[in-house]
Amino acid sequence: MIIKRYENNEQMSIKASEIVKEQILEKPNSVLGLPTGSSPLGMYNHLIAMYKSGELDFSSVKTFNLDEYCGLPTDHPQSYHEFMNKNFFRHVNLKPENIHMPKPDKGDQESGCEDYEKKIRQAGGIDLQILGIGRNGHIGFNEPGTPFSSRTHVIRLHQDTRQANARFFNSIDEVPKAAVTMGIKTIMRARKILLLISGESKREALYQLVFSSVNEQFPASVLQLHPDVIVLVEKSACTRLEKEYPFINNQLNI
Ligand code: F6R
Repeated sequence: MIIKRYENNEQMSIKASEIVKEQILEKPNSVLGLPTGSSPLGMYNHLIAMYKSGELDFSSVKTFNLDEYCGLPTDHPQSYHEFMNKNFFRHVNLKPENIHMPKPDKGDQESGCEDYEKKIRQAGGIDLQILGIGRNGHIGFNEPGTPFSSRTHVIRLHQDTRQANARFFNSIDEVPKAAVTMGIKTIMRARKILLLISGESKREALYQLVFSSVNEQFPASVLQLHPDVIVLVEKSACTRLEKEYPFINNQLNI
């Protein structure tokens, strides 16, 4: 695992967009796994700018989003469908048929999850999976205790996660209690993983990512077992880690 530290969110986002750009230039029909949340917003902005300046072409790229809330219509302002449309999809030339998102409320949920896995397989698997991390170590919406063998499934959201996401709703009561998420196994099958960690509230999560044993109570610890993970971290998230482990030239190789 390579961990790179950046002065601020902007610097981190520029680097993240460059990694995505390299991936697409190397393989124009790349399959990307995409997150929502605050951490990737700057990266999406830079990718949009690269598209508008002609540096990047998304016409052959396929995308699979990590997760979606249950119980919200897809056009609800806080649905992840809407988030992705607003912050990325509608600004670039991705083909609508190449965009995939879990659709939790369409018919039988279990077969919907199976179908999502099948579509990922049919696309040839995920080349680059981009992730954020929850304060409790969740990746996607795989909350503590989720089996490492999990594939796309429905999950009940922890109170801590609902609390963290309440900032986007009028109150915590409006935050859905369940979501569909790619499983840990789905994520681990990606050929390359890019994890973005931003903000002081993630300092404990970053520390655990590096120092915790690999265990299901801290889902992101599984990333220690993946052969190709790059973690981009904003400086303010490093305060705990750097006390124990000095970065050399802003980089740690774990
Ligand atoms: C979002 C997702 C979540 C977020 C995580 C961090 O699709 O899968 O795991 O990445 O909750 O969210 P932010 O970036 O808002 O701190």
